[in-house]
Amino acid sequence: MATPATLFGKGRVEEVGALCEAGDIDVVAVDDALTPIQQRNLERAWGVKVIDRTGLILEIFGRRARTREGRLQVELARLDYERSRLVRTWTHLERQRGGFGFLGGPGETQIEADRRLLVDRIVALKAELTDVRRTRGLQRQARKRVPYPTIALVGYTNAGKSTLFNRLTRAEVLAQDMLFATLDPTLRQVKLPGGRPAILSDTVGFISDLPHELVEAFRATLEEVREADVILHVRDIAGPDSAAEGADVAKVLAELGIDPSSGRTMLEVWNKADLVDPALRDELADAARHAGAVAVSATTGEGIEALLRRLAGLVDSGPDLVLELAQSDGEALAWLYRHGRITAREELNGSVVLSARLDPQALGRFERMRPDAFGPPATRGAGVPPA
Ligand code: GTP
Repeated sequence: MATPATLFGKGRVEEVGALCEAGDIDVVAVDDALTPIQQRNLERAWGVKVIDRTGLILEIFGRRARTREGRLQVELARLDYERSRLVRTWTHLERQRGGFGFLGGPGETQIEADRRLLVDRIVALKAELTDVRRTRGLQRQARKRVPYPTIALVGYTNAGKSTLFNRLTRAEVLAQDMLFATLDPTLRQVKLPGGRPAILSDTVGFISDLPHELVEAFRATLEEVREADVILHVRDIAGPDSAAEGADVAKVLAELGIDPSSGRTMLEVWNKADLVDPALRDELADAARHAGAVAVSATTGEGIEALLRRLAGLVDSGPDLVLELAQSDGEALAWLYRHGRITAREELNGSVVLSARLDPQALGRFERMRPDAFGPPATRGAGVPPA
């Protein structure tokens, strides 16, 4: 029977104790939440370090954090976790002391001192984090002035986000067969068919039952996702828990205030298609089409072209504009290729006639820049009228 003092029953405690002894074990991770007292009792019974689920997750996230902000966030979450344990231990000791009629004592002084140290460190970390966030907020503002659409990758841990990110941007971002390989959002440019660039952000890997200590850390990290034009939900379609993981991701997104049904563009990417039995590949492609998803393999590159085409269609769904420019107007042409998507190009007697797609902001700027480039009024979009 389970006992409150050790979480597990006596028999199980002895069984694990014997395993620890026989197997030369240093640390036991318990896949559940332990109270500080349970943790201490188990450590005594087994003679090893014991760590609970939250402690383990914080430890791993701490090691994998790649930017200063990520490290600060996890450190803060960890200190908060430690502080809550310290307070609980302290309350417990206090009760004990009351029962035995002790007053003060070295135990209390030590815990008080530890607690003050923790609080000081938390205050300092929060100030540092505010600073780092202000800088990141400014960078995001600066990016907004450039009318690039943004695409964010989300997904269960190990679904293949970093691998897909690398494949789409041809960048080298740490991709390892290891849980939680990513903590910090990483931003890179991705070229969509038609020449239009977008910004792709790689984000944290989700897990089920996210410890509440980390929800706050996620909230800040996922600002990029909240503001993205398109959210790509990457799923390991070959894994045995694919459906449950997909549901977990939707749940975490909802907890973070990102509601897929709120009109936001969300696209499912069914990754690791190469691991699906070849005999079932056609069925997979059919099911993906049916679900409005795209089946890909980030490793082999299968399906990536289709994904890019789909993204190009999603980031600018406005009408095609017909624009006419002098062939010698290299500046305006380069600007259009940088800020819009060119769907057709024809050269006639020293002019270039382009079919292009621009988002409203880019359209407004281009109209001010080259008011004479537009074709008949019927082909105009809903941009700002020329100045
Ligand atoms: P976290 O950062 O933990 O959230 O993981 P992630 O979603 O970024 O996964 P990552 O890209 O690190 O990939 C996890 C493992 O899956 C790595 O070993 C990849 O090589 C492997 N992987 C990713 N995509 C594919 C794929 O399409 N096919 C196969 N066979 N393996 C893949």
